[in-house]
Amino acid sequence: MTPDFIHTPAVQKLLDRAAGSDGEGGDARLKHIMRDLLEALMALIVKHDISESEVWQAVSFLQKGAGEFGLIMPGIGLEHFLDLYMDAKDAEAGRDGGTPRTIEGPLYVENAPLVENGASLTSDPDDTGMLYMSGSISGPDGEPVPNAVLHVWHANSKGFYSHFDPTGEQTPFNNRRRLKLGADGRYSFQSKMPNGYSVPPGGATDQLMQALGRHGNRPAHVHFFVEAPGYRTLTTQINFGDDPFAADDFAFGTREGLLPVPNRQGDSAYIAFDFVLQRAQSASDEGFSARARAAA
Ligand SMILES: [Fe+2]
Repeated sequence: MTPDFIHTPAVQKLLDRAAGSDGEGGDARLKHIMRDLLEALMALIVKHDISESEVWQAVSFLQKGAGEFGLIMPGIGLEHFLDLYMDAKDAEAGRDGGTPRTIEGPLYVENAPLVENGASLTSDPDDTGMLYMSGSISGPDGEPVPNAVLHVWHANSKGFYSHFDPTGEQTPFNNRRRLKLGADGRYSFQSKMPNGYSVPPGGATDQLMQALGRHGNRPAHVHFFVEAPGYRTLTTQINFGDDPFAADDFAFGTREGLLPVPNRQGDSAYIAFDFVLQRAQSASDEGFSARARAAA
């Protein structure tokens, strides 16, 4: 079958009706997107001669794996693609500079304790060393950013996040805090050393990675949101530059400029890292994306 099959009157009429393009009502933008999405899927079926059985296997995979969509999105590179696309649009608009953005991932939890600068993030015992991280938050002209809130979250030494720990061992908000910063834009915190992790064994992401001949490992890393009045909210993370998966992150979270090499002292480590924010150009710049996030 040639790709022209998609352009036969029967298929085109089906697309118009399926997307509501031939009728009034509904959301015009959604109708356009839906029609293009359906046409792209149909073209894919024809191009690869995907069988009926394979289509229903794919539907079953998506149904069973729905709980892992938050992991599949970075795993197949779509979350990183969104970063690349936002970067490209920023460049077109002349909005360069600052610490690179990178993927949020699915494991942020809202309303973590708001604590003073210098606090510990860790509530639970963990048989590992300490991470000491510090640096500055400044604006495009090097000015200190006053009154920032630094959201920090990371895994424990087993690679598990509080609220998402299959062992159920962690107390709420372990290794999660919001640091309330002062006029000088300086920050520091300490916590139990995080470790890298792999996707849940046997889960949908794991199955997909195996079928693609890929692994599902991330290097040790620490996630951040940086928000401050008058500045654009930054979503980013640092990956440990000396981790074996630093340059081979299954989630594509590693980016140039976000790979500090920890200064190791026994089983503890020190990381110095400075954030540079862009100025907000609108109220929405100071907010967060509309992504649905866990709350506790
Ligand atoms: Fe993470």
